[in-house]
Amino acid sequence: MSDKQRVTRRQFLTYTLMGVGGFMAAGTVMPMLRFAVDPALQAKAGGDLIATGLKESEITNEPQRVDFKFDQQDGWYESQVTQSAWVYKDNNGDIIALSPICKHLGCTVNWNGNEEFPNQFYCPCHFGRYEKDGTNVKGTPPRGPLDRYDYEIKDGVLYLSMRAKPRGGA
Ligand code: FES
Repeated sequence: MSDKQRVTRRQFLTYTLMGVGGFMAAGTVMPMLRFAVDPALQAKAGGDLIATGLKESEITNEPQRVDFKFDQQDGWYESQVTQSAWVYKDNNGDIIALSPICKHLGCTVNWNGNEEFPNQFYCPCHFGRYEKDGTNVKGTPPRGPLDRYDYEIKDGVLYLSMRAKPRGGA
């Protein structure tokens, strides 16, 4: 085997590895770049607030279920999303908006859903329970508190974030 041949093989290996490495890097970086610059995908990640139609003056200390809708653009595909929240004012007058999605296996929780456990959220699927502030009751299946929506009051109307955010486990 001549020196010339050995160099050629080494070069071939180098180019091949560079090509594979570059391909893999592009596969990783391109989706990140797209996510950073595509406004439709940014909106999907949360941050935008949606008008719920519920007036601030209608929010009491008793949790009430609010459904709200928005259009979601995912690439070329547009769909309508419906979200729900349990909304009330706490003792400080702060608005609390909780996701109704159970943190065990995703069933829907209801306020005062079981008369044996008044003033709690109740999940009928596996008897999960949560306190009014969304904290999971120890000894029931859920292992974390209900997610919480960000909110804002604009012109006397409640706006909620598109997605509820998880809180720390309890
Ligand atoms: S899904 Fe709610 S307790 Fe299991």
